[in-house]
Amino acid sequence: MKQELEQLKQAFSQALEVIESSDALEALRIEYLGRKGKLTDLLKGLKDLSPDDRKEIGAFANEVKIDLEAQFARKQSELASLFAGKIAQEEWIDITAPGIEPEDGNLHLTTQSIEEIADIFTQLGFVRVRHPEVEWDWYAFESLNMPKDHAARDEWETFFIADGDKIMEGKKGKVVLTPHTTNGQVREIEKGQLPIRMMNINKCYRRQADVTHAPMFHQFEGLMIDKNVTIAQLKGVFDFFVKRFFGPDREVRLRPHHFRFTEPSFELDISCNLCGGIGKVDGKKCRMCKQGWLELGGAGMVHPNVIKAGGLDPEVYTGFAFGWGVERTFMMKSGMNIADIRILYKNDLRFLKQF
Ligand code: PHE
Repeated sequence: MKQELEQLKQAFSQALEVIESSDALEALRIEYLGRKGKLTDLLKGLKDLSPDDRKEIGAFANEVKIDLEAQFARKQSELASLFAGKIAQEEWIDITAPGIEPEDGNLHLTTQSIEEIADIFTQLGFVRVRHPEVEWDWYAFESLNMPKDHAARDEWETFFIADGDKIMEGKKGKVVLTPHTTNGQVREIEKGQLPIRMMNINKCYRRQADVTHAPMFHQFEGLMIDKNVTIAQLKGVFDFFVKRFFGPDREVRLRPHHFRFTEPSFELDISCNLCGGIGKVDGKKCRMCKQGWLELGGAGMVHPNVIKAGGLDPEVYTGFAFGWGVERTFMMKSGMNIADIRILYKNDLRFLKQF
């Protein structure tokens, strides 16, 4: 048995020598020194020995055990320092090296423009508000003089929220993602605080994507309601905005148009910056505009039915409104030639850092 113990000791030492990881070391410890390990197994034979032998071999076995444990501990600390050394080498840093300067961020072009637009209208007494983006059909269409199934709704390629009416409280028809900021009009009139000079800037969603359309974009909606509001004031506000935002060079035109929620209605166009208002680039049709003009957006005198839907008497109150795309508006600004509107939301820093 003594011999067997010697052999065990030798086998352990040999095995220990080739071990390189703490996992393997632990496995070896369990194999030899564990509760069901080789040493325990051997010591089961002690009970068959004579009392004298048992005493002698028992003492020897104890020495072997202490020896194995010592070898184990030595290897363990050896591995630990090897590991620490490896980390120290791999993760070495030069604490005297100069630091890395963090890059300065900048506001997104859209955010910058929203602030600039809001600032211009604030100077005319407009108050910036935000109305819901997840909205009842009532505010997005029905209250705007567009009954259910009205063909005019086709123009707003609307996303509907499946079962939205079961999730939102209030039940005013189906639930949509606002396809335009005009949903803010009746919500604002309902507040009943007059005169109204609202600037509603918000995200809008439409099911379309090409060089001039992103499925998520922003609009800013102006609404002024009071006694005796006229088209002359509407024109005055346009003039003020266009001069401030675009500068004196760009041209504007008002085109008669049709919206269900304004009467009369207009579309406001501004001369294209990509082709310089000619409609052609290098002899080819400009891909940005229609014959040199870009639509800024719609405008008009608020329809009496809309004023009524908000709870006011259209015989007493009149107003004007306009709704334009933020992205389109800043793309048309002097000096900016963005050929594809969708790049704004692709998170490409090479593009975004330029502004
Ligand atoms: N909501 C219209 C659009 O999305 C724009 C508009 C706003 C027109 C206000 C008239 C008055 O095209």
